[in-house]
Amino acid sequence: MRLQNKNAIVTGGAGGIGRATSLAFAAEGANVAVVDLNAEAAEAVAEEIRAAGGSAVAIGADVSSEADIERVVASVVDGFGGVDVVFNNAGIIRRTTAVETTVEEWDRVFGVNVRAIFLMCKHVVPIMAANGGGSIVNTGSGWGLKGGGQALSYCASKGAVVNMTRALAIDHGPQGIRVNSVNPGDVDTGMLRDEARQLGQDQAGFLAEAAERPLNRMGQPSEIAAAVVWLASDESSYVTGSALVVDGGGIA
Ligand code: NAI
Repeated sequence: MRLQNKNAIVTGGAGGIGRATSLAFAAEGANVAVVDLNAEAAEAVAEEIRAAGGSAVAIGADVSSEADIERVVASVVDGFGGVDVVFNNAGIIRRTTAVETTVEEWDRVFGVNVRAIFLMCKHVVPIMAANGGGSIVNTGSGWGLKGGGQALSYCASKGAVVNMTRALAIDHGPQGIRVNSVNPGDVDTGMLRDEARQLGQDQAGFLAEAAERPLNRMGQPSEIAAAVVWLASDESSYVTGSALVVDGGGIA
Protein backbone atom coordinates (compact mmCIF):
# COMPACT_ATOMS: atom_id res chain seq x y z
CA MET A 1 0.00 0.00 0.00
CA ARG A 2 2.49 2.57 -1.23
CA LEU A 3 -0.12 5.32 -1.61
CA GLN A 4 -2.12 4.67 1.55
CA ASN A 5 -4.36 7.64 2.38
CA LYS A 6 -2.93 9.73 -0.46
CA ASN A 7 -5.34 11.82 -2.53
CA ALA A 8 -4.70 11.51 -6.25
CA ILE A 9 -5.96 13.14 -9.45
CA VAL A 10 -5.60 11.24 -12.74
CA THR A 11 -6.42 13.13 -15.94
CA GLY A 12 -7.40 11.16 -18.99
CA GLY A 13 -8.39 8.63 -16.36
CA ALA A 14 -10.93 6.91 -18.59
CA GLY A 15 -8.39 6.07 -21.31
CA GLY A 16 -5.94 3.20 -21.62
CA ILE A 17 -3.01 4.41 -19.50
CA GLY A 18 -5.17 6.62 -17.26
CA ARG A 19 -7.58 3.83 -16.37
CA ALA A 20 -4.75 1.39 -15.60
CA THR A 21 -3.06 4.00 -13.41
CA SER A 22 -6.29 4.91 -11.61
CA LEU A 23 -6.78 1.23 -10.77
CA ALA A 24 -3.14 0.86 -9.69
CA PHE A 25 -3.28 4.00 -7.49
CA ALA A 26 -6.45 2.70 -5.82
CA ALA A 27 -4.92 -0.74 -5.29
CA GLU A 28 -2.06 1.03 -3.46
CA GLY A 29 -4.54 2.69 -1.11
CA ALA A 30 -5.09 6.09 -2.73
CA ASN A 31 -8.35 8.00 -3.01
CA VAL A 32 -8.57 8.59 -6.77
CA ALA A 33 -10.30 11.36 -8.73
CA VAL A 34 -10.75 10.02 -12.25
CA VAL A 35 -10.89 13.10 -14.52
CA ASP A 36 -11.81 12.84 -18.19
CA LEU A 37 -13.58 14.63 -21.02
CA ASN A 38 -15.68 11.49 -21.28
CA ALA A 39 -17.57 11.75 -17.97
CA GLU A 40 -19.47 8.52 -18.48
CA ALA A 41 -16.33 6.48 -19.08
CA ALA A 42 -14.66 8.17 -16.07
CA GLU A 43 -17.64 7.14 -13.92
CA ALA A 44 -17.25 3.54 -15.12
CA VAL A 45 -13.59 3.53 -13.97
CA ALA A 46 -14.51 5.05 -10.60
CA GLU A 47 -17.25 2.44 -10.21
CA GLU A 48 -14.76 -0.33 -11.08
CA ILE A 49 -12.48 0.93 -8.29
CA ARG A 50 -15.31 1.17 -5.75
CA ALA A 51 -16.55 -2.32 -6.69
CA ALA A 52 -13.05 -3.62 -5.85
CA GLY A 53 -13.26 -1.96 -2.42
CA GLY A 54 -11.30 1.19 -3.31
CA SER A 55 -12.13 4.87 -3.06
CA ALA A 56 -12.80 6.92 -6.21
CA VAL A 57 -14.86 9.71 -7.72
CA ALA A 58 -15.32 10.64 -11.36
CA ILE A 59 -15.17 14.22 -12.64
CA GLY A 60 -16.03 15.19 -16.20
CA ALA A 61 -13.75 18.01 -17.36
CA ASP A 62 -11.84 19.45 -20.29
CA VAL A 63 -8.33 19.81 -18.90
CA SER A 64 -7.46 22.57 -21.36
CA SER A 65 -10.01 24.84 -19.65
CA GLU A 66 -8.89 26.81 -16.61
CA ALA A 67 -12.45 26.93 -15.25
CA ASP A 68 -12.66 23.14 -15.47
CA ILE A 69 -9.26 22.67 -13.77
CA GLU A 70 -10.30 25.02 -10.95
CA ARG A 71 -13.53 23.05 -10.53
CA VAL A 72 -11.64 19.74 -10.46
CA VAL A 73 -9.12 20.91 -7.86
CA ALA A 74 -11.82 22.52 -5.67
CA SER A 75 -13.97 19.42 -5.82
CA VAL A 76 -11.07 17.10 -4.90
CA VAL A 77 -10.04 19.34 -1.99
CA ASP A 78 -13.67 19.43 -0.80
CA GLY A 79 -14.18 15.70 -1.21
CA PHE A 80 -10.82 14.23 -0.16
CA GLY A 81 -9.39 17.06 1.96
CA GLY A 82 -6.29 17.73 -0.18
CA VAL A 83 -4.16 16.65 -3.12
CA ASP A 84 -0.94 14.62 -2.75
CA VAL A 85 -0.50 13.14 -6.21
CA VAL A 86 -1.38 14.35 -9.71
CA PHE A 87 -0.96 12.31 -12.89
CA ASN A 88 -1.29 14.77 -15.79
CA ASN A 89 -1.94 12.19 -18.47
CA ALA A 90 -4.77 13.37 -20.76
CA GLY A 91 -3.45 13.68 -24.27
CA ILE A 92 -4.37 13.71 -27.94
CA ILE A 93 -2.43 13.08 -31.14
CA ARG A 94 -2.81 14.35 -34.70
CA ARG A 95 -0.80 12.37 -37.23
CA THR A 96 0.05 15.22 -39.58
CA THR A 97 3.13 17.05 -40.89
CA ALA A 98 3.58 20.83 -40.64
CA VAL A 99 2.07 21.27 -44.08
CA GLU A 100 -1.03 19.26 -43.20
CA THR A 101 -1.61 20.67 -39.68
CA THR A 102 -4.19 23.43 -39.24
CA VAL A 103 -3.63 26.19 -36.70
CA GLU A 104 -6.76 25.01 -34.86
CA GLU A 105 -5.39 21.47 -34.56
CA TRP A 106 -2.00 22.76 -33.40
CA ASP A 107 -3.69 24.86 -30.70
CA ARG A 108 -5.93 21.99 -29.58
CA VAL A 109 -2.97 19.59 -29.24
CA PHE A 110 -1.05 22.16 -27.20
CA GLY A 111 -4.17 22.99 -25.17
CA VAL A 112 -4.69 19.40 -24.07
CA ASN A 113 -1.10 18.16 -23.93
CA VAL A 114 0.71 21.25 -22.59
CA ARG A 115 -1.55 24.06 -21.31
CA ALA A 116 -3.50 21.57 -19.19
CA ILE A 117 -0.36 20.66 -17.25
CA PHE A 118 0.48 24.32 -16.66
CA LEU A 119 -3.09 24.97 -15.48
CA MET A 120 -3.17 21.95 -13.17
CA CYS A 121 0.17 22.93 -11.62
CA LYS A 122 -0.93 26.56 -11.27
CA HIS A 123 -3.89 25.49 -9.15
CA VAL A 124 -2.56 22.42 -7.37
CA VAL A 125 0.97 23.49 -6.39
CA PRO A 126 -0.19 25.99 -3.72
CA ILE A 127 -2.31 23.24 -2.12
CA MET A 128 0.54 20.73 -2.15
CA ALA A 129 3.02 23.33 -0.88
CA ALA A 130 0.75 24.24 2.04
CA ASN A 131 0.62 20.56 2.92
CA GLY A 132 4.41 20.02 2.82
CA GLY A 133 4.73 18.60 -0.69
CA GLY A 134 3.48 16.11 -3.23
CA SER A 135 4.30 14.26 -6.42
CA ILE A 136 3.31 15.28 -9.93
CA VAL A 137 3.82 12.92 -12.88
CA ASN A 138 3.33 14.16 -16.44
CA THR A 139 2.88 11.91 -19.45
CA GLY A 140 5.41 12.73 -22.12
CA SER A 141 6.29 10.29 -24.88
CA GLY A 142 9.30 8.67 -26.49
CA TRP A 143 8.50 11.05 -29.34
CA GLY A 144 8.90 13.98 -26.94
CA LEU A 145 12.53 12.93 -26.52
CA LYS A 146 13.52 11.92 -30.03
CA GLY A 147 10.74 13.01 -32.38
CA GLY A 148 8.74 10.92 -34.81
CA GLY A 149 7.18 11.12 -38.26
CA GLN A 150 3.87 12.70 -39.28
CA ALA A 151 3.03 14.00 -35.80
CA LEU A 152 4.57 17.46 -35.66
CA SER A 153 2.26 19.11 -33.14
CA TYR A 154 2.33 16.00 -30.92
CA CYS A 155 6.13 15.73 -30.94
CA ALA A 156 6.47 19.45 -30.18
CA SER A 157 3.90 19.22 -27.38
CA LYS A 158 5.53 16.20 -25.75
CA GLY A 159 8.96 17.83 -25.96
CA ALA A 160 7.37 20.72 -24.10
CA VAL A 161 6.02 18.32 -21.47
CA VAL A 162 9.50 16.89 -20.82
CA ASN A 163 11.15 20.29 -20.42
CA MET A 164 8.22 21.84 -18.55
CA THR A 165 8.58 18.96 -16.11
CA ARG A 166 12.22 19.89 -15.47
CA ALA A 167 11.32 23.57 -15.00
CA LEU A 168 8.50 22.70 -12.58
CA ALA A 169 10.87 20.44 -10.63
CA ILE A 170 13.36 23.31 -10.25
CA ASP A 171 10.71 25.83 -9.17
CA HIS A 172 8.86 23.63 -6.70
CA GLY A 173 11.48 21.21 -5.34
CA PRO A 174 12.14 23.54 -2.40
CA GLN A 175 8.43 23.19 -1.50
CA GLY A 176 8.76 19.41 -1.31
CA ILE A 177 7.02 18.85 -4.64
CA ARG A 178 8.61 16.34 -7.00
CA VAL A 179 7.75 16.54 -10.72
CA ASN A 180 8.70 13.83 -13.20
CA SER A 181 7.64 12.69 -16.65
CA VAL A 182 6.90 9.15 -17.76
CA ASN A 183 7.68 8.60 -21.43
CA PRO A 184 5.99 5.56 -22.95
CA GLY A 185 6.76 3.89 -26.25
CA ASP A 186 3.85 2.35 -28.14
CA VAL A 187 1.24 1.16 -25.66
CA ASP A 188 -1.84 -0.85 -26.60
CA THR A 189 -4.60 1.74 -26.13
CA GLY A 190 -7.38 3.41 -28.08
CA MET A 191 -4.99 6.21 -29.04
CA LEU A 192 -2.62 3.83 -30.82
CA ARG A 193 -5.46 2.21 -32.74
CA ASP A 194 -6.79 5.64 -33.72
CA GLU A 195 -3.37 6.53 -35.15
CA ALA A 196 -3.71 3.73 -37.71
CA ARG A 197 -7.08 5.19 -38.66
CA GLN A 198 -5.69 8.73 -38.95
CA LEU A 199 -2.88 7.49 -41.20
CA GLY A 200 -5.25 5.39 -43.27
CA GLN A 201 -3.18 2.29 -42.48
CA ASP A 202 -4.20 -1.28 -41.89
CA GLN A 203 -4.51 -1.67 -38.09
CA ALA A 204 -2.86 -5.10 -37.86
CA GLY A 205 0.16 -3.93 -39.86
CA PHE A 206 0.42 -0.72 -37.81
CA LEU A 207 0.33 -2.63 -34.52
CA ALA A 208 2.91 -5.15 -35.79
CA GLU A 209 5.25 -2.26 -36.60
CA ALA A 210 4.65 -0.82 -33.12
CA ALA A 211 5.94 -4.11 -31.67
CA GLU A 212 9.31 -3.77 -33.47
CA ARG A 213 11.62 -3.08 -30.54
CA PRO A 214 14.06 -5.10 -28.42
CA LEU A 215 11.32 -6.59 -26.21
CA ASN A 216 9.46 -7.49 -29.40
CA ARG A 217 6.01 -6.29 -28.33
CA MET A 218 3.95 -3.21 -27.51
CA GLY A 219 3.62 -2.06 -23.93
CA GLN A 220 0.53 -2.70 -21.82
CA PRO A 221 -1.12 0.19 -19.93
CA SER A 222 -0.44 -1.59 -16.61
CA GLU A 223 3.31 -1.44 -17.35
CA ILE A 224 3.16 2.36 -17.59
CA ALA A 225 0.96 2.47 -14.48
CA ALA A 226 3.60 0.54 -12.52
CA ALA A 227 6.20 3.20 -13.33
CA VAL A 228 3.78 6.00 -12.44
CA VAL A 229 2.97 4.40 -9.07
CA TRP A 230 6.70 4.34 -8.31
CA LEU A 231 7.13 8.02 -9.31
CA ALA A 232 4.03 8.98 -7.29
CA SER A 233 5.14 7.11 -4.16
CA ASP A 234 7.82 7.86 -1.58
CA GLU A 235 9.92 5.04 -3.08
CA SER A 236 11.15 7.64 -5.60
CA SER A 237 11.74 10.28 -2.90
CA TYR A 238 15.04 11.54 -4.42
CA VAL A 239 13.80 11.56 -8.04
CA THR A 240 12.64 14.85 -9.55
CA GLY A 241 12.88 16.48 -12.97
CA SER A 242 13.54 13.10 -14.54
CA ALA A 243 12.21 11.73 -17.82
CA LEU A 244 11.58 8.04 -17.19
CA VAL A 245 11.42 6.07 -20.44
CA VAL A 246 9.18 2.98 -20.49
CA ASP A 247 9.36 1.75 -24.08
CA GLY A 248 10.49 -1.84 -24.32
CA GLY A 249 13.98 -0.80 -25.28
CA GLY A 250 13.57 1.89 -27.88
CA ILE A 251 11.29 3.10 -30.58
CA ALA A 252 11.79 1.45 -33.92
P1 NAI B 1 -6.38 7.17 -24.69
O1 NAI B 1 -6.91 7.85 -25.90
O2 NAI B 1 -6.76 5.77 -24.39
O3 NAI B 1 -6.66 8.04 -23.38
C1 NAI B 1 -6.61 9.44 -23.38
C2 NAI B 1 -7.74 9.93 -22.49
O4 NAI B 1 -7.63 11.36 -22.39
C3 NAI B 1 -9.12 9.60 -23.06
O5 NAI B 1 -9.92 8.96 -22.08
C4 NAI B 1 -9.68 10.96 -23.44
O6 NAI B 1 -11.09 11.06 -23.29
C5 NAI B 1 -8.95 11.87 -22.46
N1 NAI B 1 -8.92 13.26 -22.94
C6 NAI B 1 -8.64 13.70 -24.19
N2 NAI B 1 -8.75 15.03 -24.23
C7 NAI B 1 -9.11 15.45 -23.00
C8 NAI B 1 -9.40 16.71 -22.44
N3 NAI B 1 -9.34 17.83 -23.16
N4 NAI B 1 -9.74 16.77 -21.12
C9 NAI B 1 -9.82 15.63 -20.38
N5 NAI B 1 -9.57 14.41 -20.87
C10 NAI B 1 -9.22 14.32 -22.17
O7 NAI B 1 -4.79 7.27 -24.86
P2 NAI B 1 -3.60 6.70 -23.98
O8 NAI B 1 -2.74 5.95 -24.90
O9 NAI B 1 -4.03 6.10 -22.72
O10 NAI B 1 -2.83 8.08 -23.69
C11 NAI B 1 -2.56 8.59 -22.40
C12 NAI B 1 -1.33 9.48 -22.50
O11 NAI B 1 -0.22 8.68 -22.89
C13 NAI B 1 -1.44 10.60 -23.53
O12 NAI B 1 -0.87 11.77 -23.01
C14 NAI B 1 -0.61 10.07 -24.69
O13 NAI B 1 -0.09 11.10 -25.47
C15 NAI B 1 0.47 9.32 -23.94
N6 NAI B 1 1.20 8.34 -24.72
C16 NAI B 1 0.56 7.25 -25.25
C17 NAI B 1 1.27 6.33 -25.99
C18 NAI B 1 0.62 5.14 -26.60
O14 NAI B 1 1.28 4.44 -27.39
N7 NAI B 1 -0.60 4.82 -26.30
C19 NAI B 1 2.72 6.48 -26.22
C20 NAI B 1 3.29 7.65 -25.60
C21 NAI B 1 2.55 8.53 -24.88
